[in-house]
Amino acid sequence: MKKGIILYQSKYGATKKYADWLKEITAFDLVPTPKARLYDIKQFQTIVLCGGIYASGIAGITFLKKHFNDLNDKRIAVFCVGASPYDEKAFRELKTHNFKNNLSKIPLFYGRGAWDESRMTLKDRTLCKLLQKALAKRDPATYEPWMTACMSASGQVCDWTDREYLIPLLNYLKE
Ligand SMILES: Cc1cc2nc3c(=O)[nH]c(=O)nc-3n(C[C@H](O)[C@H](O)[C@H](O)COP(=O)(O)O)c2cc1C
Repeated sequence: MKKGIILYQSKYGATKKYADWLKEITAFDLVPTPKARLYDIKQFQTIVLCGGIYASGIAGITFLKKHFNDLNDKRIAVFCVGASPYDEKAFRELKTHNFKNNLSKIPLFYGRGAWDESRMTLKDRTLCKLLQKALAKRDPATYEPWMTACMSASGQVCDWTDREYLIPLLNYLKE
């Protein structure tokens, strides 16, 4: 049985950066989730999924949902990457939203990613602009943390990635 594998799904590179750091530290194999095949993944004892957050969904989580029954003897962890600063309530909601039924026991970790509208696809940029326009009409005191982050990052290039975010996950992997 091989040691561990990191699956990752990243549109703009921040999640890939975390996955690369994780590979460097753990020497686990690394594969983008769309290229992951169940037969190969089953050869590993530990599976870490790193996924970017887009509209409250964690990219790549469908792979775990689809194959959970075949992977239930594995140690699995998910590291998700979003623009929002860490917030306990928002994190709980994110977990409930993405980890339905038997996935709920999988430990979830968080790292802050990056924001650069000039690098987004036209569809994503349009979506973000529409959201910012709608939020501008609301009282900022009613914003969720990710809404505040979305408004303050508007038109700016931000990179909040930091290896420190990996520490809780690395401690879990040492157990
Ligand atoms: C269309 C879109 C939707 C997003 N939705 C969220 C969100 O719901 N919560 C959040 O914290 N960040 C959100 N973000 C920010 C991304 O999670 C952030 O940019 C992250 O770094 C993306 O990972 P990547 O660089 O690996 O693609 C969104 C970004 C885009 C482009």
